[in-house]
Amino acid sequence: MEAKTPKESLTILTDMVLPAETNALNNLFGGELLARMDRACSIAAQRHSKRIVVTASVNHVAFNKAVPVGSVVILEAKVSRAFTSSMEIYVDVWTEDRESGQKTKVNEGIYTFVAVDRTGTPVKVPPISPETDLEKERFESALRRKQLSLVLSGRMKPSDATELKALFTS
Ligand SMILES: CC(C)(COP(=O)(O)OP(=O)(O)OC[C@H]1O[C@@H](n2cnc3c(N)ncnc32)[C@H](O)[C@@H]1OP(=O)(O)O)[C@@H](O)C(=O)NCCC(=O)NCCS
Repeated sequence: MEAKTPKESLTILTDMVLPAETNALNNLFGGELLARMDRACSIAAQRHSKRIVVTASVNHVAFNKAVPVGSVVILEAKVSRAFTSSMEIYVDVWTEDRESGQKTKVNEGIYTFVAVDRTGTPVKVPPISPETDLEKERFESALRRKQLSLVLSGRMKPSDATELKALFTS
């Protein structure tokens, strides 16, 4: 299969925060943000693979800054690495200032999606060829995150997680 670039999967979701989507502090409810992230990542994974995709794992989410009601929220998702049937998708979350239009990074998430056929069986996806420095950095570290996710879900023995072990021995 021919390699694709991360930008071919770029998915941008722009929406606002309504009162029904907030917590007791009138900030965006975490579960609502997770759902939006999942949707954006799902579309990015479909764009890369051109297949049905399912969420296999949420590898990391950082709720760094609260997002108040009324905010304009922008999610930018891109495939950072493709393996055999699985893809890592990075989603960066920004808010946009009403008057200046300036964007501030507030949160980020890293998801794993798997491409499947109509019976739910995993199928191969095209490889990815990163272009920018950030894309290259995310590509390089993706195998480490995949191994961590597999170890945490009991799908890989810690002793087989070579990339993780290298972190602590270098
Ligand atoms: C994800 C799923 C398709 C994996 O199927 P499986 O039969 O276990 O297939 P495999 O073991 O061959 O795994 C397929 C790929 O997923 C990856 N994978 C599976 N679980 C993973 C996890 N927790 N973290 C990271 N990658 C994972 C495997 O490493 C493999 O990747 P690769 O082909 O790129 O090397 C299957 O578990 C599933 O359908 N889960 C439910 C998905 C779903 O409904 N999501 C929505 C939740 S509401």
